[in-house]
Parts: sequence; C-alpha cells; structure tokens
Amino acid sequence: MKSHEYDKIFSKFTGVEGDLIPLLIQIQERDGYISPEAIRRVARFLKISENQIYGVATFYPKFRFEEPGKKTIKVCMGTACHVRGGKFLAEAVGWHFGISIGQKTPDNRLDFQRATCLGCCTLGPVVQIDEKIHPRMMVTQLMQMLREHE
Ligand code: FES
Repeated sequence: MKSHEYDKIFSKFTGVEGDLIPLLIQIQERDGYISPEAIRRVARFLKISENQIYGVATFYPKFRFEEPGKKTIKVCMGTACHVRGGKFLAEAVGWHFGISIGQKTPDNRLDFQRATCLGCCTLGPVVQIDEKIHPRMMVTQLMQMLREHE
C-alpha cells in the first residue's frame, strides 16, 4: 500500500489506542494481510510500540501477517460441512499440495485456509476457491478442480 493510501485510512480515525483493531481490519481488507510496513505506520500513528500491536493482533486469528497466495482455497470445517466430509476435502488439498491449513505453496500460487462456516450449510461440504463457492464437493471432484488450477 502506498503512503497516501495509509493516510486515507488513518484520516478516518482519531489516533487513540482504541482505533487499533478497526484500523488493522481496514488494512487487512485492503491488502489481504498486515505487512511489517503497516505495523510500523500504525505504531507511529497510534504512538504505541510495534510489539504492542503484534501482542494484540496475534490474539485474533483473523489477522494474518504474511502475504496471501495468488489463489485462495478455503475448505469449510464448520459442523455441517465437517459431518459431511469436509475433513477429507481438507486432507485432499493438503496431500495434493504438500501444505497444511494456514500455509501457502512455496511458489505463492495457492493459499490454503479453513473456514468455520461459509453460510450455506445445507450445501455442504463446501469449498470456496477465491470468491466462488463450490457446493456438495466430493474428493474426486475437488482433485479434478485442483489439477485444473495448476
Ligand atoms: S458449516 Fe460449512 S457452510 Fe456452514
């Protein structure tokens, strides 16, 4: 993010410590993650230490501190999807790419995430690739799709 884009975000806040979480949310919405540069700028703006920011932000699993992969696959592990085989879908992705949930491929092509519920439980098990929801997913079908995304 460029300097003036940070300024634009900061202009919506007064610079008090209570602005920290909403600020980080906006930065992550904009960039997909919170970079070391963003932490430095927020620390300066709120007049708190970078360590304080990490201390608070790492408490929230929603925040991520590394750049996401180019394509994101989210396997829903919510209860409804889990009982319909979501776990097997997650294992299939893991085997195929040799990564675990929360990791990305070394070439930065794919980001592997879990979701707690994608809001369409009756269609489970559900997988989301970028913005698109894929309902009633089966392992064979998912493997086919993963090959197409290679
Ligand atoms: S539990 Fe998977 S969509 Fe709700």
